[in-house]
Amino acid sequence: MSYKTDIIKERIPRHIAIIMDGNGRWAKKQGLARMFGHKQGVTTVHRITEAAAEIGIEYMTLYAFSTENWNRPKEEVDALMTLLVDTIAKETPTLMKNNIRLLTIGDIDRLPAETKKKFEGCIEETKQNTGLNLVLALSYSSRWEIIEAAKKIATEVKDGKLDVADINEAIISSHLTTNGIPDPDLLIRTSGELRLSNYLLWQIAYSELYFTDRLWPEFTPEDLYEAIVDYQHRERRFGKTSEQVKIEK
Ligand code: FPP
Repeated sequence: MSYKTDIIKERIPRHIAIIMDGNGRWAKKQGLARMFGHKQGVTTVHRITEAAAEIGIEYMTLYAFSTENWNRPKEEVDALMTLLVDTIAKETPTLMKNNIRLLTIGDIDRLPAETKKKFEGCIEETKQNTGLNLVLALSYSSRWEIIEAAKKIATEVKDGKLDVADINEAIISSHLTTNGIPDPDLLIRTSGELRLSNYLLWQIAYSELYFTDRLWPEFTPEDLYEAIVDYQHRERRFGKTSEQVKIEK
């Protein structure tokens, strides 16, 4: 029996965000260098992306490189950038085959020029695809994007383009790097860590959180289906009472 058969098709989460954690620990467990974990992590990205596209997920946002990851040893940062470039080159045909559109969020200008160029090329090539939107968070952190949004909004107020009284949730959302992307319904974090690590903090205000002990390199499509089934058994109340939610159904 697979959890896949338990998924209620009418209640598929529209947007799943994932904190892919545990690559380093997975490698250490095998007596290998950390980069082997990241390479295996790419294989998981491939499998999970195909599975998500196949079951009709609209958006999947993966935390591939955080603002704080720039502080890792230079060799690891360089190797991760190379891995990202190689992966994009290798995986673009897979994205085309599966009708997947690539998007990025984050401070893309901080990436090495070659890495940025590869991503821009892939975004352009896949822009007509109408299936899954695969969003990679690169050089991303919530605090960074909220600071950037605050600066842009302050400038618009200063230039007389925006009235302070008109600042609301929609205005803030539209100034974030996720502008146009619906908020995640489900956030998954692998590896047993119970943290949000500066990830989509504004956007996950009402997301369901799912933590699993599985390390990212060993996370399978079956684990994804299990998380979705778990999500489908929850009652999303958005601050209302259970009775109100039942009447609305
Ligand atoms: C967390 O594991 C993982 C990362 C910081 C990077 C994730 C990157 C990939 C899976 C590869 C590239 C991805 C794409 C989308 C092409 P960790 O190193 O923090 O593991 P640890 O907590 O066990 O040390």
